[in-house]
Amino acid sequence: MKELTILTGASRGMGQAIAKALMKEEAILITMQRHPCEALQEQAQACGCQLIQLAVDLADVQKAAQMMADTLALVPQWQSLDRLTLICNAGVNGPAGFAEDTSDDEFIFTQNVMALSPMVMTRRFLRETKDFKGKRRVLCISSGNGRNPVMALSAYGTAKASLDAFCRCAAFDETGKANPVPIVALAPGIIETDMQRHSRAEMALPTEVREKYIRYHNEGRLMTPEAAAEKILAYMEREDFGSRPVADVRDPV
Ligand SMILES: NC(=O)c1ccc[n+]([C@@H]2O[C@H](COP(=O)([O-])OP(=O)(O)OC[C@H]3O[C@@H](n4cnc5c(N)ncnc54)[C@H](OP(=O)(O)O)[C@@H]3O)[C@@H](O)[C@H]2O)c1
Repeated sequence: MKELTILTGASRGMGQAIAKALMKEEAILITMQRHPCEALQEQAQACGCQLIQLAVDLADVQKAAQMMADTLALVPQWQSLDRLTLICNAGVNGPAGFAEDTSDDEFIFTQNVMALSPMVMTRRFLRETKDFKGKRRVLCISSGNGRNPVMALSAYGTAKASLDAFCRCAAFDETGKANPVPIVALAPGIIETDMQRHSRAEMALPTEVREKYIRYHNEGRLMTPEAAAEKILAYMEREDFGSRPVADVRDPV
């Protein structure tokens, strides 16, 4: 199958592991993050995958939307491919502290990166590829924290809950269309990345919240980024992908 995947947040953590797992001969991968990743470039050269790494700060929502629109032009043959996939993975911890205590700028930054940018990118992806004859898929990486609030992490939880709501609405819009796009907000489980390391060290979190993250780590409950990437990509290949627009990677088939 000839396919193009557009992936945000591939420079580190789970996004980098997803990118590595996607890079095969003839695959086309476009990534978007602030910093390029040398390891991905090396793997792309070794395996004959076409990799384009775009530097973008997704806090700039208008730019993210424009970049999404411009991205397809980088792959002139995109209309003849079999499948197009958008994976919105980039994320930030957001400010820690009670809702009234964290800065407005940090709150807005968090919503821009993790809620508004994936929303506008998905909208543009759907619009630009409207007449595409092959299969299209959208995956937004969500979090259990958007479904069950964690104390003193309201910016993060709000962004993920908004993303869930958007995916639910956008997926509903697809129902009944001739070539509907499955759109899924997926909670990926708990993964040992910079995000978790930051949470364990975040002194602005209430002690019990920080200790919960430390306990998860000490009990060996964190997945490696590679294991998480494998589960996510397997989930995306499931027959029922899209049947639940707000989903968890651990959902039974
Ligand atoms: N780790 C977990 O336990 C866990 C649990 C549930 C959900 N998640 C979700 O999984 C996703 C990946 O998280 P992770 O743990 O892999 O995080 P991570 O290791 O901190 O990586 C975050 C990625 O997002 C990119 N990013 C951050 N801010 C950005 C910005 N302003 N513009 C563009 N790109 C930006 C980073 O690239 P640059 O710094 O180069 O920009 C990096 O590639 C996130 O959506 C996160 O919320 C993680």
